[in-house]
Amino acid sequence: MSDFQLTYSTMFAPPRALHERFDAALARVRQRLGQAHGLFIDGAFVARAAALDKHNPARQSERLGRFAQASVDDVELAVAAARRALPAWRRTPWRERVALLRRAARLVDERLYEMAAIVSLEVGKTRMEALGEVAEVSAFFDIYARQMEENDGYDHALPDDPLPHMKSRNRSVMKPYGVWAVVAPFNFPFALAGGPTAAALVTGNTVVLKGSVETPWSGLLLAQCLKDAGLPDGAFNCLVGDGATVGEALIQHDGIGGVTFTGSYEVGMRILRAQVNRRWPRPCIAEMGGKNAAIVTARANLDAAAQGIVRSAFGMSGQKCSALSRVYVDRSVADALIERLRAAVGAIAVGEPQLESSWTGPVATRAAQLRHADCRRQLDGGGARIVAAGPLPADADAGFYCAPLVAEAPLDHPLWRKEMFAPLVMLGRVDGAEQAMAEANASDFGLTAGFFGAEDEVAWFLDHIEAGVTYVNRPLGATTGAWPGYQPFGGWKGSGSTGKALASFHYLPQYMREQSQTRI
Ligand code: SER
Repeated sequence: MSDFQLTYSTMFAPPRALHERFDAALARVRQRLGQAHGLFIDGAFVARAAALDKHNPARQSERLGRFAQASVDDVELAVAAARRALPAWRRTPWRERVALLRRAARLVDERLYEMAAIVSLEVGKTRMEALGEVAEVSAFFDIYARQMEENDGYDHALPDDPLPHMKSRNRSVMKPYGVWAVVAPFNFPFALAGGPTAAALVTGNTVVLKGSVETPWSGLLLAQCLKDAGLPDGAFNCLVGDGATVGEALIQHDGIGGVTFTGSYEVGMRILRAQVNRRWPRPCIAEMGGKNAAIVTARANLDAAAQGIVRSAFGMSGQKCSALSRVYVDRSVADALIERLRAAVGAIAVGEPQLESSWTGPVATRAAQLRHADCRRQLDGGGARIVAAGPLPADADAGFYCAPLVAEAPLDHPLWRKEMFAPLVMLGRVDGAEQAMAEANASDFGLTAGFFGAEDEVAWFLDHIEAGVTYVNRPLGATTGAWPGYQPFGGWKGSGSTGKALASFHYLPQYMREQSQTRI
C-alpha cells in the first residue's frame, strides 16, 4: 500500500518518494515487456490468434507486448457471459457491491506506480499525468461507493397513500438496466474505462468494456484489479478491438441495456442515434469531443492567463478532451499575452514522458502527429502565423513528437471549428468581452471553458458561457485538470449527451431505472 495518498495536492507538489517509486516501478515493468496478453471474458484471460504488437509512442523501437484483438464472436461471448452473471450480481446486496468497489480501489492504490508506468508507456503521457490517471480511478471507485451509501442504495420508502379504506405502502427503487457497454478512449484508457465501469457495477449492472486498439493494456489492468477484489466471473469483461467492427457489434447488440461511450463527436452521435432507433430506446451516456475556449479580458492577470493557457493547451500534448484549443484575447492586451506565451511555450520540457524532467511527451499515434502537421500546413495557407513555438527533444524521430504551437489566426479560419487533439492552440484578437463570448459560444461543443478577467466580470462569464466545466482565473489550467470530487466533468451541446458530469452526484442514477413499488 502506498504510504501516502496520491491526491489533488500531491499532484501539484510531488514528494521525492513519488519519483523514486515511479522509477522503481518503471524498471520492473520494463523487465517484463514483450509478453502476450489475452482478452478478459467470463473471469479468465483468454488468448486469441489475432493479435497486434503495441509499441511505446515515445520510442517506437520499444515493443510493449502483443495484445489479443477481439472479433465479433468475442462480443457474443462477452455479452453472453455478462448476461449470465447479471441475475446474481444485481441481486447482490448493494452494500456488498460497495465493499467490492472499495477493495478494488485499494488494489488500484497498491498497484498505483506499476499501473501508471504501464499507462505512461502505452499512451506516452508523463509520469505525473499517468499517476494522476490511475489515482483518479480509485477516487472514482470511492466516490461512487460513497454515493451509494449516501443514497441508501437508491431504495427509498415513500409516504403511504392517504386513502383510509385501502392504505398502500410505496417505495421508489432504482434498478440496473442489465449489461452495460463501456467504450473507452485512447487518451484516458484507464480512467475512462474505470470510472464508467465502477458506476455500472456498483449500481448492479454487469459490464462489457471495449478499449481502444491504441491502448490495449489498461483495460486488462482494470480487469485484474476487479478479479482480485473478488468480482464474480462474467460481471466484467474486457475486449480490445476496432471500433468499426467490434465496437459497432457491441453497441448494436440486443443483449445490452445501456452504453457509456467516450470518444469522438461523429462516433458518439452515431451511437446515440442507434440507441434510439430500436424497438425501445436505451440509455446512452456519450462524452464526446471539445473545442475548448478561454477568454482573456483587458483586465486579466496576464501571467496567470499565460500559465493557465500553456498548461491546458500543451499538457499531455493537447490530447485531453478538456484541452484548450481557442484563446480569445482583448486586443488591448494581446501583444502582452503573446509575449508571455512565447517565453512560456519556449521553455516547455518536451521529452521522453517517463523521465522526471519531461513536462510533456509525444502524441499517442502517428495519425495524431500527421494531423498536427496537417493543421500547421492549413495555418500557413490561411493567413495565420505561429506566434509561439516549443521545442522538440533531441531524439524526436524516435517517437511521435510534435512541437507545441500557438497560432494567431483570423477568426474565420476553419481550424477555429475543428477538433485537433494535438499541441496547437489558436489565438484571436477580439474587441471586448462580448465578442469573445460570442466567439467562444459559436461552437458545436461545450465541454470546458476558461476565463481570465476581473472579479466583477466573473458572474457575467459564468452566466453566459455554454460549457459544462468552467474555470476562472486558474493558472493551474485554463480548461483542464478536473479531479473527481472537486470538479464534476461532463460536456454540454455536442460534447455530452446527458449534461450529468463524471463523479458528480447526478452521475450514478443514469445507470439505473426507477421502479415504483406500491403494495397493499
Ligand atoms: N480530468 C481531465 C481534465 O479535466 C479529463 O480530460 O483535464
